[in-house]
Amino acid sequence: MAIIGKDVNEAVFLLRHGEVVALPTETVYGLAGNAMIPETVIKIFEIKQRPFFDPLIIHVPDKEALKKYTTEIPVRLQPLMHAFMPGPLTLLLPKSEKIPDIVTSGSPFVAVRIPSHPLMMELLHKLDFPLAAPSANPFGYISPTSAEHVDLQLGNKISYILDGGPCQIGVESTIAGMEGDDIVIYRKGGIPVEDIERIAGKVIAKSASTSNPQAPGMMESHYAPRTPLSVIAAGDQITEHTNPVHVGVLCFQNYHAEFPTTNQRILSTSGNMGEAAKNLFAMMRELDALPLQHIYAELLPEYGLGRAINDRLRRASGQ
Ligand code: TXA
Ligand code: MG
Repeated sequence: MAIIGKDVNEAVFLLRHGEVVALPTETVYGLAGNAMIPETVIKIFEIKQRPFFDPLIIHVPDKEALKKYTTEIPVRLQPLMHAFMPGPLTLLLPKSEKIPDIVTSGSPFVAVRIPSHPLMMELLHKLDFPLAAPSANPFGYISPTSAEHVDLQLGNKISYILDGGPCQIGVESTIAGMEGDDIVIYRKGGIPVEDIERIAGKVIAKSASTSNPQAPGMMESHYAPRTPLSVIAAGDQITEHTNPVHVGVLCFQNYHAEFPTTNQRILSTSGNMGEAAKNLFAMMRELDALPLQHIYAELLPEYGLGRAINDRLRRASGQ
């Protein structure tokens, strides 16, 4: 069983020995290992049961390290790097030969991120190699936003979980890259698209696509609870159910009066999207743990972090 602790040096020790360790970031917990050791990277894929064609993000302490593992930072991405790194932004950049191909699933591009979580920053500064780290959940399931979430699902497969408390952002990083002269957002995440556009001008935001399921974060069924989930517009009445006792609701601001409140969770009573993002995955997990036959999830307004949250909800519903 995994030990849950706050000992950065223990995590450093294990990582230096090629072990896989769960680590906190401000977005979600990561399942991390030395990106330079292919055997370690393979362990990450295996623990997560993730297909080898779905590449991993590397995590580095600062911009200097980011430059070391990439060959070019396109001019239009540079202002984004300066504005949002460290933070919940991942850039897809041409990769240096130093990074093993297994990390990027053979792609000449590597996804790089500088996390801002204090414990993770402290740890990264003690290492002289980048960390490959996907979210620390079994492939396809909801991402973990606490050490306990990691322990519940992967605790028997790893030896240490570094406990950095609940994640402050709660949804994964925004992934941005270039296609020709265009900035493309491959995954909506912790940095809202509007904030990206304020800095870098108009971008192309891609959404889930079945035609290209291998593109970043675009697997159709993802972030999914085991209980079937459907999305509804905020405030919509839920009519298709047999017994209210078996129906759960993930509400944005208000309960649905027709169902027991014990089966419901409110993302943010004040309508604060940051708070909603922070609660999202934990509340999905809580509802998934109840003996429910169906979960309904209210969509948020389609702006700011609401877009990243709605993207997760739609994918959880398989829509
Ligand atoms: O917030 C986050 O980004 C978290 C924390 C732990 O850093 N990580 C995370 O990793 O969400 P993961 O593996 O669950 O999602 C990364 C996404 C995947 O959908 C993957 O396909 C895409 O990034 N990706 C990674 N490297 C890529 C590459 N070289 N080319 C295209 N897509 C890439
Ligand atoms: Mg993931």
